[in-house]
Amino acid sequence: MNKLLVSLLLAVGVTGVAHAAGDATAGQGKIAMCSACHNPDGNSMLPNFPKLAGQGEQYLLKQMKDIKAGTRPVVEMTGMLDAMSDQDLADIAAWYASQTIAGGATDPKLVERGEALFRGGKLDDGMPACIGCHSPDGSGLDQAKYPRLAGQHASYTVKQLTDFREGDRVNDGDAEIMRDIAAKLSNKDIEALASYIEGLK
Ligand code: HEC
Ligand code: HEC
Repeated sequence: MNKLLVSLLLAVGVTGVAHAAGDATAGQGKIAMCSACHNPDGNSMLPNFPKLAGQGEQYLLKQMKDIKAGTRPVVEMTGMLDAMSDQDLADIAAWYASQTIAGGATDPKLVERGEALFRGGKLDDGMPACIGCHSPDGSGLDQAKYPRLAGQHASYTVKQLTDFREGDRVNDGDAEIMRDIAAKLSNKDIEALASYIEGLK
């Protein structure tokens, strides 16, 4: 009985995934408009434009849906996703996810503080370590839509953590996971974490 239930659930789950699956090659043909900022392979050059290369497919899809719906406002991308279908977005997500992120470097002066926060959190304030969700090497956990952080531009990461803290980015779900965490970070914590993350391999 239990086994039957499990296999039924699995079957439903697998069908659901297969239905939304993206085609990376098709996606490559749909990003002409995006490349000016994110580069054809998703390794954006400017530090305020996020690298998308190697990012988790499910996370990318969620962000594009949020940006399209306006629950995550990105002024630079206003209107760009309006004409895209769910299949287009899934294809684009598959393309960027299939690419390899070009990593960066950590400011040696910030390693110690960044690493301590990333791996240990702030236990006194009840702030969990980042590795619990984003994994010890910063590669994330895409089944749970926990994004990859390792290698990301520090400026972009600083902006995201500040936006979560100030309530300017609110698409982290009803549990407000990232808003709660960012609320416990000072500007210096954020700077150290972002630099540490950029150099994580
Ligand atoms: C004019 C520059 C620009 C263009 C063109 C652009 N983007 Fe963006 N994109 C941005 C910026 C800036 C952000 C981050 C905004 C912020 O600070 O939250 C972003 C964020 C994203 C994110 C979220 C990344 C993450 O790690 O959460 C995705 C996914 C994305 N863009 C996909 C696309 C796609 C697909 C296109 C083309 C249809 C596109 N972008 C076109 C500038 C651009
Ligand atoms: C309990 C799980 C959890 C923990 C712990 C956690 N995060 Fe997150 N983080 C998430 C989730 C989920 C998202 C994606 C939210 C969304 O869908 O927009 C996220 C998003 C982010 C983003 C945005 C990434 C992007 O590409 O835009 C950054 C940066 C980030 N987290 C940094 C951190 C840092 C630094 C820590 C530790 C101080 C941390 N997170 C701890 C779950 C977590």
